[in-house]
Amino acid sequence: MDNNFHHISVLPKETMELLQPEKGLRFIDGTLGAGGHSGMILESNPNAELIGIDQDREALAAAGKNLEKFGDRVNLFHGTFSQMKEFCAEKGWDSVDGILLDIGVSSHQIDTAERGFSFRADGPLDMRMNRRNPLSASTIINQYSEEQLKTIFKEYGEVKRAGAVARAIVADREKKPFERTGELADMIDRVDKVTGRRQSSAVLYFQALRIAVNDELGELERALEDAVDLLAPGGRLTVISFHSLEDRMVKRFFNRLSTDCICPPDFPVCACNTVPKLKVITRKVVTATKKELAENSRAACARLRAAEKI
Ligand SMILES: C[S@@+](CC[C@H](N)C(=O)[O-])C[C@H]1O[C@@H](n2cnc3c(N)ncnc32)[C@H](O)[C@@H]1O
Repeated sequence: MDNNFHHISVLPKETMELLQPEKGLRFIDGTLGAGGHSGMILESNPNAELIGIDQDREALAAAGKNLEKFGDRVNLFHGTFSQMKEFCAEKGWDSVDGILLDIGVSSHQIDTAERGFSFRADGPLDMRMNRRNPLSASTIINQYSEEQLKTIFKEYGEVKRAGAVARAIVADREKKPFERTGELADMIDRVDKVTGRRQSSAVLYFQALRIAVNDELGELERALEDAVDLLAPGGRLTVISFHSLEDRMVKRFFNRLSTDCICPPDFPVCACNTVPKLKVITRKVVTATKKELAENSRAACARLRAAEKI
């Protein structure tokens, strides 16, 4: 076990119940992290093989150690989950029986100050999950226009004072570029003050910035269609998201692919001949139980949905 890499897998029981690893042979974990969920998949089926993907080399190294006992049933790939088709082709797999995406950051990433994800612990303005990515939080904060910054904060952070914070960033960076997460967090707290006992408003601005740095919504959009193509009939796609925009994207995607008619409502008879590709398994989104929340507060925002390939 890699004790330096701390992350508690969210919704473990619920995810395994929906993914049904005991019913298949080939699985993809597109967000390996420390390999917590992957380990559960491999434990529950001694014949299962897995492709594990992560864009963070530190996560891959930790997962490599944690999953060592499963030998060559584990195939690790450095890259993004939108490359899953490419990795399957490399492995010679033309279909899989289950895919898991547990999108977001790991506790290890958040808790490692020098990765620059945290507004609480001072570090460089980085936030790249893949350290080879040329775009870092520093580039966005110091080079993007006021309008671009405002859009990022408004759309991904859903904050009220996006414009004021974007304006203040542009004014402050004229004097000296932002280098540290602490400088940015202090500035946000000054402009978007929180009253009462709520936590710092920087959390939402930092989340928005992280989504932009790692193109998290674009990644999900590109991956969903490919995931469905790769699934064998009866195979399941399970997605855990932590942001309302991602959860909405998954929900709409599942609904669109499970519908058998996309004709306008005023058509007297169906003329589209749409063939549904998915059956939605989670009619209602699955969230953490009180018991899990007591043990892992980071599960509070987790939203799990699953669908089965028809
Ligand atoms: C919440 S953690 C996953 C934890 C894992 N399920 C476990 O139980 O240990 C998310 C991981 O996914 C990775 N990640 C996020 N988006 C990714 C993407 N588009 N492609 C590949 N990896 C991604 C992050 O680097 C991080 O290590």
